[in-house]
Amino acid sequence: MTDQATRAAFEAERNRTRGTAESTAPVILSIKDVSVQYKTPFGWMTAVRKSSMDIRRGEAVALIGESGSGKSTLGFALLRMLPRAARVNNGSAMFTDNEGKTYDLFSMSDKEFRDFRWSKCAMTFQAAQNVLNPVMRVSNIFYETAKAHGWNDRKAVREKTLDLFKKVQLDPRRVFDAYPHELSGGMRQRVSIALSLLLDPDLLILDEPTTALDIITQRAIIDVVKSLREQLDFTMIFISHDLSLAAELADRVATMYAGEIVEYGPVRDVFYEPEHPYTVGLLNAVPPITGEEFTPLVAIPGATPNLLSIPSGCPFHPRCPFATEICVNVNPPLEEVGGTHYVACHHHDQVTRDQEVWEGMEATVAAG
Ligand SMILES: Nc1ncnc2c1ncn2[C@@H]1O[C@H](COP(=O)(O)OP(=O)(O)OP(=O)(O)O)[C@@H](O)[C@H]1O
Ligand code: SF4
Ligand SMILES: [Mg+2]
Repeated sequence: MTDQATRAAFEAERNRTRGTAESTAPVILSIKDVSVQYKTPFGWMTAVRKSSMDIRRGEAVALIGESGSGKSTLGFALLRMLPRAARVNNGSAMFTDNEGKTYDLFSMSDKEFRDFRWSKCAMTFQAAQNVLNPVMRVSNIFYETAKAHGWNDRKAVREKTLDLFKKVQLDPRRVFDAYPHELSGGMRQRVSIALSLLLDPDLLILDEPTTALDIITQRAIIDVVKSLREQLDFTMIFISHDLSLAAELADRVATMYAGEIVEYGPVRDVFYEPEHPYTVGLLNAVPPITGEEFTPLVAIPGATPNLLSIPSGCPFHPRCPFATEICVNVNPPLEEVGGTHYVACHHHDQVTRDQEVWEGMEATVAAG
């Protein structure tokens, strides 16, 4: 997006949410202290740590953070699609469907979970356009997915699929009988989104739906997601590096750093009044999305930590201009700082976007 378009999108979002009451809808997903580890030749590596958040029905939550911060791993864990050499080693995830039935995601039997996945909670994967089975026609991918959930009425599946194709702005008849390789990347991404909605899930996790697409196609996919939400009213977790897309699409934002959710709250709080230094660092590193005048960009000093040897205390302390001794020794819990805004930082009330503070830290880290 251009800076101007980005700003306009953010302004629209701010106006949409300004003064509106927080959602009081029931919680659809409650994640508490979730940790996920991968087995490596050097031991278990913790990719998601003590992450907690509640998502209310109908909300769109953006999960943001640098590459490797654990966003996809959290999504995979929720859908129990982690690779074999990975485990959820702590925490719980409780899901309450639109009928009020609660599911304990990490304790359900495999059989129960097979019925649950895609019908209650679905996910489109990062680079989803490459994961459609290349030797199956699109129609068969949809028939097989429906059949796996006991839906054998091919006529009804066809009708539903064609309707979804219209909703994602695909030419239904052309795409239904095609093989994935006959479609462009953007068309395959739309097919993946339609597939994830085939069984009317209550919650959809979209993992970087626009990565690897050109800018025009990215815009079209975002417009499709917005229009789908208006028409189908599902809850959404939107995983993205792109803060402007998060601002445009989400009601709430969760910032992840080194596997932890370190800030979580309404878009307007997290982007206009960020209280975690890492969120501030992310905002300072991209063109303004909050409508203010352009200021020079400042990169977050240093690099993301090696997850096999996370810094003591607060994992962000080696890169943080506000760090003090307590930060080196004690990892702060995620705590409410007002309304439904949560931050994990000892000094959240002193945090500022002041460029000089950040430039000074950049110089300190560079000097070693
Ligand atoms: N299958 C795997 N085996 C071992 N380590 C993995 C595996 N998948 C991911 N990881 C590691 O887990 C950490 C978190 O990765 P993850 O893919 O969840 O991050 P991400 O925030 O989604 O990043 P990106 O923005 O690049 O998609 C990274 O250090 C990554 O190298
Ligand atoms: S706890 Fe300390 S090191 Fe961590 S983000 Fe806050 S000020 Fe920085
Ligand atoms: Mg990812």
